[in-house]
Amino acid sequence: GKGIAVFTSGGDSQGMNAAVRAVVRMGIYLGCKVHFIKEGYQGMVDGGEHIIEANWSSVSSIIHKGGTIIGSARCQDFRERQGRLRAAKNLVEKGITNLVVIGGDGSLTGADLFRQEWSSLLDELVDTKQITPEQREKYKSLQIAGLVGSIDNDFCGTDMTIGTDTALHRIIEAIDAIVSTAYSHQRTFIMEVMGRHCGYLATVAALTSEADYVFMPESPPPEDWQKKALREIRSALVAALTGEADFVFIPEWPADSNWKDILCKKLMQERSAGQRLNIIIVAEGAIDRNGDPITAEMVKKVVVDNLHQDARITVLGHVQRGGRPSAFDRILGSRMGAEAVMALMECDENTEPCVISLDGNQAVRVPLMQCVKQTKAVAQAMADKQWEKAVQLRGKS
Ligand code: F6P
Repeated sequence: GKGIAVFTSGGDSQGMNAAVRAVVRMGIYLGCKVHFIKEGYQGMVDGGEHIIEANWSSVSSIIHKGGTIIGSARCQDFRERQGRLRAAKNLVEKGITNLVVIGGDGSLTGADLFRQEWSSLLDELVDTKQITPEQREKYKSLQIAGLVGSIDNDFCGTDMTIGTDTALHRIIEAIDAIVSTAYSHQRTFIMEVMGRHCGYLATVAALTSEADYVFMPESPPPEDWQKKALREIRSALVAALTGEADFVFIPEWPADSNWKDILCKKLMQERSAGQRLNIIIVAEGAIDRNGDPITAEMVKKVVVDNLHQDARITVLGHVQRGGRPSAFDRILGSRMGAEAVMALMECDENTEPCVISLDGNQAVRVPLMQCVKQTKAVAQAMADKQWEKAVQLRGKS
């Protein structure tokens, strides 16, 4: 059978263990030799006890655990050719020519580069007598399949990344907890949520928690469009989903330049209608239309200075990335892990590498580099302040 290795790379996310488990068990079921690579690319570069053979029971009792039991790391060595050369030698020594990479776009890009370089790395290993010409011939091509593990849901090409659903559960639990104490004291809470440059967590958290406001990173449309359509869209979305809240600020649609006035007006309206508290969600990447950050501290100051409300900030931080994975993420990780092995079984050296994505309710294979390219194009559009383009690109899978 084929030699497969699975590893997790970059920030961890809930559901990665389900994916690791599915890769190991599907691989063994199909007669492959499956290895764990511990601590991501660093383990691949370091080799030795970092690359170990997995068996059926080594993935027992992990599906319910958060994080990744095989560890993850951000690896500088793998960015250098020398590091990748060492990694290639370690893989050849273990007979591994198939990799399942579970990570974000950076990790998947690294895998693709490694695959492209594979032949030349093996040539160099033969030339320097680190492997034999027979080994070179036997392990001449490297296949990869990617799974996207990230709480941010910031990858183009898949409806959901592994971990996002659980992070939303963590956020909602926290907001529900905050609401009860905010109610007692008639306070306003500003909750900072993760998501890097993506407003998905913030937006969905706002919609599902009846937040009064949300600030997010993907920024603003042109003046008149913003004034008319954007507000209507926001209100419609929120109203449709919660029946109550009126506003949402997220990164994909950056805040109006006069966001302070709009925010204060909205909060005042709510209070005069008898509401005892306000919840404002601020994505960690939230920006205004100039691309300048909108932070929880700034929002608090606006609320305190203008409305004299009793306001507090809660930064959820890494709580969002921890804890038990939801049923959805366990299933998602399991389905994607199994599909990744199937993809590797069916590909050869001419097959374009794929990433397993969720399309509707189907686990499907999509071209890895096309998705990475599109994800990078979103980041570029945001850096260029082309907000509409960013939103369009992100929505396209
Ligand atoms: O990408 C996942 C994420 O949790 C982001 O939401 C956040 O910006 C970042 O990672 C935090 O990184 P670190 O764990 O290195 O502090």
